[in-house]
Amino acid sequence: MKLPIPERLGRIPRLNLGVYPTPIEPLERFQRALGKNAPRIFIKRDDYTGPGFGGNKVRKLEYFLAQALADGCEAVITIGGIKSNHCRVTAAFCARLGLRCVLVLNAPSPPETTPASLFLDELYGAEIHLVTSREERRATMGLLAEQLRAEGTTVCEIPLGASTPLGALGYVNAMQEAASQLEAMEVTIDYIFHASSSGGTQSGILAGLQLLNLPQVQVIGVSPDDAAPSISSEVSVIVRGIGELLDVSWHHPHVMVLDDYIGAGYGIGTSESEAAIKLLARTEGIVLDPTYSAKAMAGMIDWVRQEKLSADETVLFWHTGGQLALFNL
Ligand SMILES: Cc1ncc(COP(=O)(O)O)c(C=O)c1O
Repeated sequence: MKLPIPERLGRIPRLNLGVYPTPIEPLERFQRALGKNAPRIFIKRDDYTGPGFGGNKVRKLEYFLAQALADGCEAVITIGGIKSNHCRVTAAFCARLGLRCVLVLNAPSPPETTPASLFLDELYGAEIHLVTSREERRATMGLLAEQLRAEGTTVCEIPLGASTPLGALGYVNAMQEAASQLEAMEVTIDYIFHASSSGGTQSGILAGLQLLNLPQVQVIGVSPDDAAPSISSEVSVIVRGIGELLDVSWHHPHVMVLDDYIGAGYGIGTSESEAAIKLLARTEGIVLDPTYSAKAMAGMIDWVRQEKLSADETVLFWHTGGQLALFNL
């Protein structure tokens, strides 16, 4: 006989390093600033998850690194951009767990000032390998992993953003956490808006909603970089993989990704994303990150302006962290 799904999920090894539940807060002053037709808006504060200055990577790495420890790994190697939140949190986890950490980071040229995340990667003791393009990262990770294996080190390679079915289980749990908070607050939501890039967060949220039998909640992933079809197909693959991991068959969810708010490209602000950062900071004292959630918020604000959202609806905006991208040393 099959175990119930929460028990199957509970049996998958997970480190308990984050600080949960992260708060859900109403954004009343922000909502009023958007005008009388704005929906009711709440924010899920996953910028407060804890280790490595928080963000969405904490929840995914709790699964990934539990497996790495179970596999006897001594070194962890992963990839990202020079300001990568995923790499910074991986470095913090490795320091905490006593694992060697190797990071392959891409930047077109060595930075003139040190991004705060890179400063912290080094502070946490990670070994840094710089490459010039996104395309070189994966091959470099493979080569470095081979070298470490040749030296007799057991290595765990973590793909971009830890966005695999295993990592995405962090957001299956997160959705369950949010659903119980909302139930206790007597709030029913119609939409979730969040930044979506390597797909782990969106697939975990979608799978979590299926398990909770809440398929009517619309999840809108807003891209900071890639075209919508490429992110949504990645999300579909991960959702299927989560089903296999948990041994459940489910309806394939409709995956919605918006790529209208990227502007000139990854990490380059738009006037709308900069306005979103200012408005939330000045009405609520909450800071968005410039690369991901500011563009997601710009998307949500645009939907309010276009009247795609209405005053009788409720939105949960999921803050995924990353504010350190605002700072250089
Ligand atoms: C701060 C922040 N928000 C959102 C995302 C997107 O999450 P995902 O890669 O799971 O789609 C990332 C990582 O890419 C991130 O660092």
